[in-house]
Amino acid sequence: MAKDFSSMEDSNTSANPSIHQVSDPAKRQTLQLAAWLGLLASVSPQALAQSRSKIGFKAMPIGMGDFIELPADYVAQVLAPWGDPVGIAGKMPAYKPDASNTADDQAVQLGMHHDGLVYFPLNGSAVHGLLVINHEYIDEGLLFPDGFEPMTAEKVKKAQNAHGISVIEVKRGDKAWQMVRPSQWARRITANTPMRISGPAAGHPMMRTAADAQGTQVLGTLNNCASSMTPWGTYLSGEENWANYFAAGDKPSAHQKRWGLRGKSYTQWEAHDARFNAELHPNEPHRFGWIVEVDPMDPNSTPIKRTAIGRGAHEGAWVAQTKDGRAVVYSGEDARFEYIYKFVSRDKIQAGGAKANRDLLDHGTLYVARFDADGTGQWLPLVHGQGPLTVANGFADQGEVLIKARQASDALGATKMDRPEWLTIDTTSGWVYCTLTNNSQRGDLGKPGVDAANPRANNTMGQIIRWHDQGDFDGLRFQWNHLLLAGDPANARAEAQGNIKGDIFGCPDGITIGPGGLLWIQTDVHSTQMRHGEFARIGNNQLLACDLATGEVRRFLTGPTNCEVTGLSFTPDGTTMFLNIQHPGESPSDRSDPKEPSKFSNWPDYVDETRPRSATVAVRKKDGGVIGL
Ligand code: FEO
Ligand code: CA
Ligand code: CA
Repeated sequence: MAKDFSSMEDSNTSANPSIHQVSDPAKRQTLQLAAWLGLLASVSPQALAQSRSKIGFKAMPIGMGDFIELPADYVAQVLAPWGDPVGIAGKMPAYKPDASNTADDQAVQLGMHHDGLVYFPLNGSAVHGLLVINHEYIDEGLLFPDGFEPMTAEKVKKAQNAHGISVIEVKRGDKAWQMVRPSQWARRITANTPMRISGPAAGHPMMRTAADAQGTQVLGTLNNCASSMTPWGTYLSGEENWANYFAAGDKPSAHQKRWGLRGKSYTQWEAHDARFNAELHPNEPHRFGWIVEVDPMDPNSTPIKRTAIGRGAHEGAWVAQTKDGRAVVYSGEDARFEYIYKFVSRDKIQAGGAKANRDLLDHGTLYVARFDADGTGQWLPLVHGQGPLTVANGFADQGEVLIKARQASDALGATKMDRPEWLTIDTTSGWVYCTLTNNSQRGDLGKPGVDAANPRANNTMGQIIRWHDQGDFDGLRFQWNHLLLAGDPANARAEAQGNIKGDIFGCPDGITIGPGGLLWIQTDVHSTQMRHGEFARIGNNQLLACDLATGEVRRFLTGPTNCEVTGLSFTPDGTTMFLNIQHPGESPSDRSDPKEPSKFSNWPDYVDETRPRSATVAVRKKDGGVIGL
């Protein structure tokens, strides 16, 4: 999600810890060198020039236009834009370019602001499968003919129906991909779809509400950001910026403030849907911020919020497998100064798909990361009764530890990170990569200073960190270093220069290991900064590939004006890449003017009477080869 940085949550005022803070620049440089003792340490520029790159495409220049640009031997096809019907039989209302579709229409059409996506092959096929797509948030100026004000019950319903997740069926013919409609798998999950709450916090007193006395059922999912496929074939989706949707009234509690709740909501739903009034319904926010598991192969299945993985402003969650078959789920919170987590399942992954692993993510241990200055780190258990996580310190039981995972991590002294976004797991090498997109408040007066893992003050550009758990993915200690610091070497400010070996970018967000082990990096520079100031030479948001053997980064694709490039997934044979173009034409003010919906972009329709639309795009090589190699 791109958002105005000044409204981004920054509610971590905890005092923990300074053991790894490094304020002396000379010392920082030494530590930086120490941190680079990983894969890249032996790569000199000469060696880089001599080494044969794994990347097989010609580098693209930066993007400045309102279109997708990519190498000449590739083709990009717009496949599934906001507003197109997902394909539920008998319910396929056409997209109306004047935004006059109703709330009921929107409930069966693709939602807005596509983010994470995963291709689920049908019977292993590279030409026929399901695409599961997150719809992170909305732009009221584009969703409604009259924009944000005034909100009505119908508009709130339409807004809620434009959130959530879509499942669509897709098939490739001789040349192009197309949606299969109607489809037996087509489905919309919205902010009102019934979901089950499972794990240690299910039924907890803090989860019970007027509408759900048991605390085990919740309506809907919100702000679904990144996503992944589990080894047992389900979809995991993170709930990210839900705090903006609740109104806490005049006197938010310390707990509510720690979770970023404010007096007024950003969305104004509470006037027409009282559960978003956190003054009246203080437990409703506790039912958001979880990792949601969906079985896309069963359109009648109930999505499940997995509380054992902990609550947060979750970007997403990604699963590795230990040698003995247990699941290790890595996740992070995309908010300034929040944390990186991993959950280790108690039980082993079973053959037999979703049903055989129905309770797998309900039992296990959650840990939070502490990155130490010597290039090692430790996973600290969030287990009730251990260390500071006691009744005396405000944690009644394990359920409360998970609901208040931020406070628990504060108490444990975890490392406050520069907005953890996506993760990806290199199962060949065991390294886990995480984008830290930016943190312009790092080092500000009254805010945490730089540390070894987050080494730049006023960090506008972001970095990619990686770690290797000791022994196996369940190891409690790890080694870590930075793959790279993003930026532009032409910038005057040292903290904005970065150390990229190759094409420049800022604000890494999506990250995925693709065919041949290439690391793909997607960017999310906000439209207030795009092509301005320190970002002047960086251009539109983009997709780049990194050869992990050499560290070389090469630009592959650039997106239309003011979009974010996100949501990467490949067919099993690597010949199609699916990605999402999110919020093309985003207004720098974050709210588009309904009178001028196409002011900044008209992608992808380019018709005067319409408006820019987020969309899923299929990328193929013209000769049918593997993407990127
Ligand atoms: Fe939804 Fe953190 O991007
Ligand atoms: Ca982002
Ligand atoms: Ca993101």
